[in-house]
Amino acid sequence: MGFLELAKKRYSVRKYKDIPVEPEKLEQILEAGRVAPTGANKQPQRLIVVQSREGLEKLGKAARFYGAPCVVIVCSDTAETWERPYDGKKLTDIDASIVTDHMMLQATELGLGTLWICWFDPKVLRAEFDIPDQLEIVNLLAIGYADGEPQSPDRHEKMRKPLGGTVFRETL
Ligand SMILES: Cc1cc2nc3c(=O)[nH]c(=O)nc-3n(C[C@H](O)[C@H](O)[C@H](O)COP(=O)(O)O)c2cc1C
Repeated sequence: MGFLELAKKRYSVRKYKDIPVEPEKLEQILEAGRVAPTGANKQPQRLIVVQSREGLEKLGKAARFYGAPCVVIVCSDTAETWERPYDGKKLTDIDASIVTDHMMLQATELGLGTLWICWFDPKVLRAEFDIPDQLEIVNLLAIGYADGEPQSPDRHEKMRKPLGGTVFRETL
């Protein structure tokens, strides 16, 4: 499968089968995140993989993850991230999101469904998982086998703006 085909195949899964993610597949997904590029190669990502019933129960106090059997909490260390000298912009969230995207697409290639989640209560997550203030909690990635009909890879015709709506040549 070519990259564009894979990218079009992926969709947000909001219903999962009650089947665990195979350990070797999870390792491959985490490996895809490991090799992701980060600003100045600082690798500030810190991932918490949650699969236990107790862990998922704790997660459920902070976010909806639709019965996924595995959720990765993607954090980023604000003290280890590259900072742009001109304006002090830290790459914490950008780096964590590239890692998340790599994992999401690797999971798709392995036949797994995913949901990228930013609607969570960071205070609750921080308390439940003892996450220190130095780490920014950036994304949750739910992973598991999708239940129900997959969405069409052709849906982007209607569900995405045309290129002309977001891409400009030489000037805005
Ligand atoms: C940065 C980001 C944050 C998102 N947060 C959530 C979320 O908290 N809850 C949710 O159900 N979907 C979330 N989504 C999924 C988007 O709603 C979804 O990707 C978008 O509507 C396009 O649909 P598709 O993924 O099926 O192509 C998020 C996606 C991204 C990229």
